[in-house]
Amino acid sequence: MTYILPGAPWLIAHRSMLGVNQPHKVTLNGQDYALWQNDRGEVFALNNVCPHMQAPLSNGWICKERNTITCPFHALEFDGEGKLHREGKRDIQPFAQPLKLTVIGDCIWTYGDCEPRTGIPDIVEQIASKYDFIGIAGDKTIQGDFLSTWLINSDFNHQNGTHRELFQIVQNQMTEFDKNGYWYKVKQESTRANNSVRELLSNPVLFTIPKILKSTVEYFFPSVLVLYAETGSGPFAQVVVQYPQQQNQTKIYELIFAKFKSVWIKPLLRQSMLKAIDVVVEQDSTAIETRYPHQPTKIRLPNEEVMIYALELYREW
Ligand code: FES
Ligand SMILES: [Fe+2]
Repeated sequence: MTYILPGAPWLIAHRSMLGVNQPHKVTLNGQDYALWQNDRGEVFALNNVCPHMQAPLSNGWICKERNTITCPFHALEFDGEGKLHREGKRDIQPFAQPLKLTVIGDCIWTYGDCEPRTGIPDIVEQIASKYDFIGIAGDKTIQGDFLSTWLINSDFNHQNGTHRELFQIVQNQMTEFDKNGYWYKVKQESTRANNSVRELLSNPVLFTIPKILKSTVEYFFPSVLVLYAETGSGPFAQVVVQYPQQQNQTKIYELIFAKFKSVWIKPLLRQSMLKAIDVVVEQDSTAIETRYPHQPTKIRLPNEEVMIYALELYREW
């Protein structure tokens, strides 16, 4: 397939998604890779195709002693450099193709097989140093192209359509839009309808969302975007990660951070927070997956300049 946004840094996994000594499959720009993390926290990645008879290495297992991945078909072992381990010896030439990774804190970044075109944003590290990590949410493959998936997160008019049931945002006002190259930022004020007791009980997160929620969304095109909000339980940061898997398949997952005002809130809210985000991502995917093919629009809404800016960044990449 033709590469989508060649030279972009992609955040292909967070350490918590990998486990220890377990193969983990990642698809980036049409190519499958097998990733694993050893008990020292080192992370390795190889092209997933076994160079013997093309079995998927990610279906194999990790040998802790030799730090190798074993192919599920004939049990050949390869280390993180792709070198074959046989009868106590290690071949000099790599057979399997390693994928170059950059591990920063808990984040595993790669440029795939491309030359870097932009730097890796340090925003996730900054957030991790200030907030507690709550967990991963909304981890799924959307059956839609990368651009549509990125654009829905730059679309400030879909809350009262796509997400109306969950948060019941009746009005959304953009108060600021700053941009500088691949970075852009939007401040908004969202007004929530009066929720019924039933709605509040089924989604306890609503208790912590003020009637007028002020939030900031900061974009680091095309790798991540972060939504910051001040809730009743403390500040909250939601890192939305996206990368292209195939021409019409996009991976999305979110790293959720918060700084709760008291220690007992985390166990109380953690599950419902992550669940609410799963629902949001599910709703966005449905919006993307059920659309008819693109056509030039005849209608414009306010605040669409953010989406148009993102579209230009994509087209001019
Ligand atoms: S296919 Fe992998 S060892 Fe044979
Ligand atoms: Fe959305």
